Amino acid sequence: MAFPGTGTIWMNGKLVDWKDATIHIASHVIHYGTAVFEGARCYETPRGSACFRLDAHMLRLQHSAKIYRMEYPLDLAGWQQAVLDTIRANQMKACYIRPIVYRGYEALGVNPFTCPVDASIILWEWGAYLGKEALEEGCDVKIASWSRMAPNTLPAMAKSSANYANSGLIKMEAIIDGYTEGIALDVYGNVSEGSGQNIFAVRDRVIYTPPLGSSILGGITRDSVITLARDLGFSIQESVLPREALYIADEVFVVGTAAEVTPIRSIDKIVVGSGRRGPVTEALQRAFFDVINGDVPDTHGWLTYVYEEEATLRAGRNTVGVRA
Ligand SMILES: Cc1ncc(COP(=O)(O)O)c(C=O)c1O
Repeated sequence: MAFPGTGTIWMNGKLVDWKDATIHIASHVIHYGTAVFEGARCYETPRGSACFRLDAHMLRLQHSAKIYRMEYPLDLAGWQQAVLDTIRANQMKACYIRPIVYRGYEALGVNPFTCPVDASIILWEWGAYLGKEALEEGCDVKIASWSRMAPNTLPAMAKSSANYANSGLIKMEAIIDGYTEGIALDVYGNVSEGSGQNIFAVRDRVIYTPPLGSSILGGITRDSVITLARDLGFSIQESVLPREALYIADEVFVVGTAAEVTPIRSIDKIVVGSGRRGPVTEALQRAFFDVINGDVPDTHGWLTYVYEEEATLRAGRNTVGVRA
């Protein structure tokens, strides 16, 4: 969906008109992919607009920047405030939130230290990423011929723009081959993640998901789904998954800020379970949507209400990325 091209974008603390929010072609990030970013969402709820796990997203942004030695003069509360200010300035009800920290314009060469660390926050309206129908019917995916990054090459735990060169290859291959999405293996041939989602498999009522060591991004939706699954009394295990475990699973689903909780109905043309959304996926999907839609009490403190007098900013209770 094309951008409407209106509204304002936060750039280094200033709100700039959409059309003027540009950077120079000689900026380091354009040539060397030197950026880290976030993708979060603000939802419309009966109590007003609310950001889902804004603290966890902004903490992950800080962690990604730390890994890439990019220092930006905002603390966790400052980042959250900047996002809320931008949503308020644009009077958005529901939106996708894209903060990005990048190496800007000064000189070109591999060494990123020569260039300033700049930041922006962009907002836009974005519906169901894999299609509304997929949320109920499930989608068809393939195992990508591309592997996810090997350990100690590009850090998978950092949400860096450079990692999305790999995601782009996975996604393009899937589209060209007639699938909605591609699932990548790690370099050892075990299941890693989708181009922009974490993956879960259900077998005999036990839920499995690959651990951080399988070259995955420590997804905030993944962390939320693990918490909700435990709340619902499911047994859940973070374990290394061989590729074939997906084919013989009762249910498979992917999760992410964009994809939310989306069932997978076939992998490499092998039908998963009954070939439609299974009961465990449906229960977790309902639990997730109930929270983000504000239909149940926010027992985990995951929602930050944007337009309430003083949105309470949480100080990094995020456990994403440090789960055993
Ligand atoms: C590669 C990758 N894995 C997993 C995820 C899911 O992460 P989250 O739930 O924090 O959006 C994303 C989403 O950005 C992603 O790009």
